[in-house]
Amino acid sequence: MHASKTRSVRPVTKPRWIQKLRLRLKELNFIKGPLHYYTVVTSTQSEASKLASAGGNEGTVIIARKQYEGRGRLKRKWRSDPGGLWMSIILKPKFYMGKTHLITLLASLSVVRSMDQLSISEASIEWPNDVLIGKSKAAGIISEAVFQGSELKHIILGIGLNVNNQISRFEGELLRDATSLREASGHLFKLDEVAFLILRNFEGLCAEAQQLNPVNLLSHVRNRMGTIGKDIVLTIEGKDLKTQATDLSPDGELTIKEKDGALRNIRPVDVEKLHQA
Ligand code: BTN
Repeated sequence: MHASKTRSVRPVTKPRWIQKLRLRLKELNFIKGPLHYYTVVTSTQSEASKLASAGGNEGTVIIARKQYEGRGRLKRKWRSDPGGLWMSIILKPKFYMGKTHLITLLASLSVVRSMDQLSISEASIEWPNDVLIGKSKAAGIISEAVFQGSELKHIILGIGLNVNNQISRFEGELLRDATSLREASGHLFKLDEVAFLILRNFEGLCAEAQQLNPVNLLSHVRNRMGTIGKDIVLTIEGKDLKTQATDLSPDGELTIKEKDGALRNIRPVDVEKLHQA
């Protein structure tokens, strides 16, 4: 026996909020973890994707304190300083109907509902994938589907939420357009509580989607969209289009009213930017 020579391996110290969150995930039905935490990572989306390809379970959660190359929709960079919630989840939804975007909308709804529960007022969904507080962006959501042939292997849902991170350090457009829970409320939040609420709300919506068909949940999404009935500017292929948002279609597309009164549905993938006129 060489017990005396055996070095004890020091466990990697995880922040307390991660330890708490890990325990709380046991209360959930399918987003139970494992929970992987990284101090610094390129992107939690990439880590989640690697884990999923290696057979990672549905409900695996990946969180990072900081991302070097957090990514947003349309290959945009997502600024991810410490203090925010940068999280990806591996999903294999049974209710998936070839519409990855519906997952994004359900996740947006779960973020908005979490903000209500955290007493943040004026939270709304800005189609296609943002959550605003007032007029400023607090969260961005991305859903990336991976296929093998025509078979869906998994979806990586990424949620980036400015929680306690300092927005005053953002530059340019981000400084103008971004906010955080801290900025909106004037106090700090427990990241484990914020993450847990979002995951629990999202899981509840997934359960409903499985029973009812996700399309039936879109009325809840529509009710929380700040843009319906408003004049908006859509940027499509680099050109600004002034129009009016009239509805959310059963496919999760944005229905707009053309100048001649005709209604047209816009796909999320075609929109570079949306803002209220
Ligand atoms: C967007 O607004 O276009 C979506 C932003 C999504 C950011 C999150 S942060 C956690 C996850 N990891 C990433 O690299 N991106 C998502």
